[in-house]
Amino acid sequence: MTNCIAFHSYKGGTGKSTISSNLAALMATQGFSVVLLDLDVYAPSLQTYFNTRPRKWINDFLFDQADLDEVIIDSNSILINFLKENGNTDNKTISNLDKGKFYVGFSSTSKEDIYKLDGFARQETSKVQLLRKFIMMREEISEQYDPDYIIIDTSPGIRYWSINALAVANAILLSLKMDGIDIEGTRILSKEIYSSFAKLGTQAYLLLNRIAGYCHPPTLLPQNENKSNETHSSTSTNTLYSNILNEQSSTITKLKEDMSMDVISSIPCYCDIQFDSREFLTSLKYPQHPFTQQLLDLITELEKLFK
Ligand SMILES: Nc1ncnc2c1ncn2[C@@H]1O[C@H](COP(=O)(O)OP(=O)(O)O)[C@@H](O)[C@H]1O
Ligand SMILES: [Mg+2]
Repeated sequence: MTNCIAFHSYKGGTGKSTISSNLAALMATQGFSVVLLDLDVYAPSLQTYFNTRPRKWINDFLFDQADLDEVIIDSNSILINFLKENGNTDNKTISNLDKGKFYVGFSSTSKEDIYKLDGFARQETSKVQLLRKFIMMREEISEQYDPDYIIIDTSPGIRYWSINALAVANAILLSLKMDGIDIEGTRILSKEIYSSFAKLGTQAYLLLNRIAGYCHPPTLLPQNENKSNETHSSTSTNTLYSNILNEQSSTITKLKEDMSMDVISSIPCYCDIQFDSREFLTSLKYPQHPFTQQLLDLITELEKLFK
């Protein structure tokens, strides 16, 4: 059976693309077959990430101008080449990839294509037609490719596109950074959207990303105090840091209660990964990195969820 997981968030920059692409690639190296779909149609990123120029886009499929097999691109070799380039030639990983299938469906980055879809989605009559195509795409992927997972990267917010993507998922992972706007926006989304999907049987979880807990902040005292007393400043840093952790922990408890949603994963802010030039495959490049371990744990959680 194919499980379909959509990554969504209130605002951009919460890690949807980074986590969905790393997770999908890691799943493939674990032997799962995966289809990763870029449904962030307003700001697609997977095409740049995977440096692929497909002949046909998901946009073409939605407009009946392409068949599914022209849009779903076999990208197994990208992962194998990437692993080899980075000296990660562990036999099990490579042979898992031979077994596991890794496909990606890309959204067009052309301005005209994005405007065309956007215009179409604004007309009431074509909206229903587009939703039908979304459902058809998910069904055809399941029938033709029979993947273990379809992983969807979506547009943030309550745009028509994201709602379509959420409608075909059987689990929604709602990523958020722990800042005030994100927390408040997530509350709104939870009331207005996820609760309706939950009634239809879709599972929804919070995925806390970039939480405190990896890099310790530098001393955040005013400069004059900073210089004067090393011991004092380091004590203050510890106090500040433990305050941040305490505050974070009570915010998380409150969030879970308010939204009646569980937290499926809490991923710290790994300042180093955002500077990796190919951050969408960090987990393959650095198998020992704690970020990779977090994603492996997430795979285990997802497997439990769908058992
Ligand atoms: N756990 C993390 N630690 C550090 N940086 C992260 C983490 N998750 C994502 N990022 C960085 O945050 C930025 C935004 O992530 P991205 O995946 O593009 O967000 P979105 O797709 O939700 O807009 C990227 O530069 C990415 O490297
Ligand atoms: Mg993105």
